[in-house]
Amino acid sequence: MSDFITIGTLDELSPGGEPIVVDINRRWVAVYNIDGNYYAIEDRCTHDDGPLAEGELNGCIVTCPRHGARFDVTSGEALSGPAGTINVPTYDVRVVGDEIQISTKRKTS
Ligand code: FES
Repeated sequence: MSDFITIGTLDELSPGGEPIVVDINRRWVAVYNIDGNYYAIEDRCTHDDGPLAEGELNGCIVTCPRHGARFDVTSGEALSGPAGTINVPTYDVRVVGDEIQISTKRKTS
């Protein structure tokens, strides 16, 4: 069983905008709004720890600001670049009322 914690409210996270970055069990996690759906990935590139939340977001694809690896924010899947096929961990997200909550359970694939 996983626990969920509130990381913000719906009005703090606009579609396609800057993600909210939070500390979950001493790991930075970036939470995105993609067309009204919410996703969370670890804010650490699987190539060499680049801060993905600082990368450019196009649709649901974020590009690592360090060496250009691309990841699908909705699944954590590594798509191209030096990260190879090493996906970034994800966290479940849910909305309760106007609160955005994420699971404290880190999911790897
Ligand atoms: S640290 Fe992200 S591509 Fe190198």
